[in-house]
Amino acid sequence: MIKASILADRDFAIGDIDPRLFGAFIEHLGRCVYGGIFEPGHPTADENGFRKDVLDLVKELGPTIMRYPGGNFVSGYNWEDGVGPVEERPTRLDLAWFTTEPNTFGTNEFIDWCRAAEVEPMLAVNLGTRGADAARSLVEYCNHPGGTALSDLRREHGWEKPHGVKFWCLGNEMDGPWQMESKTATEYGRVAYEAAKMMRWIDPKIELAACGSSGRNMPTFGKWEDEVLEHTFDQVGFISLHTYLNNYAKDTPAFLASPDLMDAFIDEVVAIADAVAAKRRSPKRIALSFDEWNVWYRTRRNRQERVKEGWPVAPPILEEIYTMEDALVFGGACISLLNHADRVKCACLAQLVNVIAPIMTETGGPAWRQTIFYPFAQMSRYGRGRSLRTSIKSPSYSASYFDPRGPQDLYYPVPSVPYLKASVVANDDGGLTVFALNRHLTEPLSLDLEVRGFGDLGLAAAETLHHRDLSAVNDKENPDRIKPDRFDDVTVSSSRIEMTLPPASWTVCHFARPK
Ligand code: AHR
Repeated sequence: MIKASILADRDFAIGDIDPRLFGAFIEHLGRCVYGGIFEPGHPTADENGFRKDVLDLVKELGPTIMRYPGGNFVSGYNWEDGVGPVEERPTRLDLAWFTTEPNTFGTNEFIDWCRAAEVEPMLAVNLGTRGADAARSLVEYCNHPGGTALSDLRREHGWEKPHGVKFWCLGNEMDGPWQMESKTATEYGRVAYEAAKMMRWIDPKIELAACGSSGRNMPTFGKWEDEVLEHTFDQVGFISLHTYLNNYAKDTPAFLASPDLMDAFIDEVVAIADAVAAKRRSPKRIALSFDEWNVWYRTRRNRQERVKEGWPVAPPILEEIYTMEDALVFGGACISLLNHADRVKCACLAQLVNVIAPIMTETGGPAWRQTIFYPFAQMSRYGRGRSLRTSIKSPSYSASYFDPRGPQDLYYPVPSVPYLKASVVANDDGGLTVFALNRHLTEPLSLDLEVRGFGDLGLAAAETLHHRDLSAVNDKENPDRIKPDRFDDVTVSSSRIEMTLPPASWTVCHFARPK
């Protein structure tokens, strides 16, 4: 048994947690839209073709905001193709995923789906093959009440009221050579500034995110953020971050350490954004939109997992099957986000259904939860309120994390990885939630918490996710193989909480004030 402690005080907060921290992402990619959220003819489909079994799972998962329509896809997308009478919409080749896009689902259907799922829509504009003009036209089509050609077109299409989309992404991963019409930081900074300016002239209420680097391992990381923000600082509220954690090296301790590199990435982007502000003597603080994050590696490098030859419609690609091990790393990433609630004001799990996703479906068949479903659902349910500063004492180990996507294969040293990774949230209802990851693979962790300023607390809910086989997965035949168990190894008396976390486990304990 190893021992660790946490000290937290209700008055010492990192920051308020923005509900947008619990976002997710739907891209026209593989079976995310077609056969995922949208499948006319499916036994559970409603009159719009939305799968109700998927909608039910989405509501249980609890995302708050949904990014759409890409991703790489958006950099070649003509939004006009996806509106108007379905039978008149063109079929196109999609060069992001080498598929055929039927355009039977588009912006208006997405807005309807968001209303049904009770999530806020977030739209990305194409700053690859299109530009500022198409971006401002889409804002006018969506958000202008009426009386202009584009807003009246929306009304003719059947959506009388404006969609009121508030959050917009200025393109996607524009630094990446895989992107259609990728750009240098100067090229992107200029077009993003001009697009942002016109989009905000049409609707001053919108919030905008400029593209940051598509990963911390990009050779231009750092310089890119600096130059892009030099151009766009006055027009945007957010800069984006993307990270996909991996275990290519088959090194579980290093994989479990990888969320700590997300912490470093966030701190670095904050430093760059604040340096741009400092050069202007500006009090403005750019927020971070971590609008793609997840574990993803098995279906990433091998072309056969990414591309099905023959330009199929909605092929099964990037259908990563998540293990127990992945769920632990994913839980660590949730903790990283909660612990940066002061600056990460929006985050999107990439993606929602079938494509590197917490929810899987069989076309024509059932839907089920992957292992990573649970930490996300718990974070969204119990992570509301203020993230607290913690003083954590824990034994640690060292690791070296392999990240293959830079100019050459990279190993990042992580010299000190505490076995305990944790976040403490002061909930809006006056209670408190502890999110805890025990990264020791064989030893239980005895955790002693002192929480000041909460008065008497009682245990309201406690769950742990762990399985003796870290490679275990959920599938159609065994959809509940991995799911949280009730956690009993916890006691609370006054301001002291004690618990024993199983080896290689993710645990969530919610404490409430007595009624
Ligand atoms: O989420 C899958 C892909 O990963 C997205 O399309 C792209 O933005 C990123 O590279």
